[in-house]
Amino acid sequence: MAQLVTEWVNVTGDTSIIARESGEVWFHTRSGTKEGADPFATPMTGVGAAGSTIKLLDGAINLGFAGIENRLARPDLTLAGYIVALVGAYHTSVDTPRNLRRAAGRFNEIGRPEVAAYLEDRAREETGHDRLALKDLRALGVPGERLVANFFPEGIKPLCKRFDDLCAADYPIACIGYSYCLERIAALKQETDIDKVKVLCPEGVDATRFLRSHSCLGSEVAHVEETIAFVASLPANDRISVVRETYESAVIMAEGYNHELLKSETQMLDEIRQAVGETLPHLHSSHSSRREEDGARPAA
Ligand SMILES: [Fe+2]
Ligand SMILES: [Fe+2]
Repeated sequence: MAQLVTEWVNVTGDTSIIARESGEVWFHTRSGTKEGADPFATPMTGVGAAGSTIKLLDGAINLGFAGIENRLARPDLTLAGYIVALVGAYHTSVDTPRNLRRAAGRFNEIGRPEVAAYLEDRAREETGHDRLALKDLRALGVPGERLVANFFPEGIKPLCKRFDDLCAADYPIACIGYSYCLERIAALKQETDIDKVKVLCPEGVDATRFLRSHSCLGSEVAHVEETIAFVASLPANDRISVVRETYESAVIMAEGYNHELLKSETQMLDEIRQAVGETLPHLHSSHSSRREEDGARPAA
């Protein structure tokens, strides 16, 4: 019988994630193991398998988010918060196809057509997602184009910068780790999360296009599955880079999302007002019926 695959990646300091094809996963610290007796001290070189690769990738996300566990914001949902989240969703998706195509071009240049083909597929699939966010904003009576042109939420900037930089690298394999992180987190959103947003929307208004498509009901689930299978097929060095970036991206996302979620309702209404150059009365009337400390929203 063929031996089960074991994969491992050192993600930070002396912490490594080790995963078996059978689905077992654990975090391993090098300190404490005798020198020369640690089989995971050297990078893995073997083949991957979907069962272990998914555990490495998800372990990296969990480890990345563990850093904010104690100060994680858990605000209630408000319309202003949802609008800010849609602005963030727009910015994280508007350049995605162009960035992925740039990375694909580089892989074609260096003779890795299979990576280029995967990235080109993803670029096609992600095309138009920024427009879903704009449509949702418009449906909510917000001048979406004006809002996104003048408002780039502080917590979202480092995420976008990260993806730009990863896709512009000489060897841009790590951009897959960033995309995985973003899509995996989106795919965790359930129908109940969408229902909570619908309750906030005016009667008859559909403003959940982006959220639906980036949830367990939309294309994200298939994107995540495709990525796991693709990453598992890559050589060990590439898998290591992708898993490490999944961790790094998760750290940036955790900090960035939390920064946005910690904002008060007044702060968010103010940011929206400044960006569109006018007060949107329907947002303020929904605000006045809530207590200030009821806070924010779900990241779309
Ligand atoms: Fe998307
Ligand atoms: Fe996607």
